Amino acid sequence: MTVRHFLTLQDLTPAELKQIMHRGIELKAMQKAGEIFEPLKNQTLAMIFEKSSTRTRISFETGMTQLGGHALFLSSRDTQLGRGEPIEDSARVISSMVDGIMIRTFGHEIVTTFAQHSSVPIINALTDDFHPCQLLADMQTYQEHRGSIQGKTVTWVGDGNNMCHSYINAATQYDFNLRIACPEGYDPNMELVNAHKDRVEIVRNTLEAAENSDLIVTDVWASMGQEEEQKLREKAFASYQVNQQVMQQADKEALFMHCLPAHRGEEVTAEVIDAKDSVVWDEAENRLHAQKALLEFLMAQK
Ligand code: CP
Ligand code: NVA
Repeated sequence: MTVRHFLTLQDLTPAELKQIMHRGIELKAMQKAGEIFEPLKNQTLAMIFEKSSTRTRISFETGMTQLGGHALFLSSRDTQLGRGEPIEDSARVISSMVDGIMIRTFGHEIVTTFAQHSSVPIINALTDDFHPCQLLADMQTYQEHRGSIQGKTVTWVGDGNNMCHSYINAATQYDFNLRIACPEGYDPNMELVNAHKDRVEIVRNTLEAAENSDLIVTDVWASMGQEEEQKLREKAFASYQVNQQVMQQADKEALFMHCLPAHRGEEVTAEVIDAKDSVVWDEAENRLHAQKALLEFLMAQK
């Protein structure tokens, strides 16, 4: 059987993504009902972290426990990867002993190289270019609160970063329209935008981009690895903040999402993130349920 990886949303078909979303909702209900479900008994997920994490580590580690398996936390600080062991060699060795590998790293080519040399599924838990696991949780959260996202309008406000790129992929995979409000110089990858141009447009004005939107999403102005650009970015993004005025432009049923961690007073005001249309806490919790569905899909014996 060929090994399936999850490096971007495009590694799964729209039908598979829908199946995982509904399974995530089901697994959440089972968990809340106290049902024990252990399809990954005796399986191990290696979790390689080259960047910090709260949600991703906790959700994958807890998810593996709940599915009856084990998760192994590997920081680049104390493995040979951090001392320069080639990715190809690391992939061969690690995959010979575990059943799945989750990686959070910098360059996207690191996860693609890993996948080429791994005998087990590789899951992208965030690279500089994509964060597909977050989208599984976001799409499940929208479905739970408002039903199908198909045909809806989503507005991305802020940096054309890894999260924005995954929203571009999601626009095609989940069939919604995406408006991206970002300052010039901070555009997403234009090749990716063009590949999805029937569903994605760049709108420079935040208020215009938010008009009648069904979902407003933002993320930090400076991502991990860009800390030294913080001051410069605060200036560039000043008019790309999700505040009450932006939310008022959107549909009255519009939801607000943020992958977290958030900086109140920068990309979002406290008033918006702590309001009732903000579903950020469900969104964070759904990382657990959505990724359990992903782990089951990729790793459980069929
Ligand atoms: N949203 C997200 O991936 O959070 P962490 O960086 O805490 O894992
Ligand atoms: N764009 C952010 C997402 C954090 C979950 C980053 O890469 O730091």
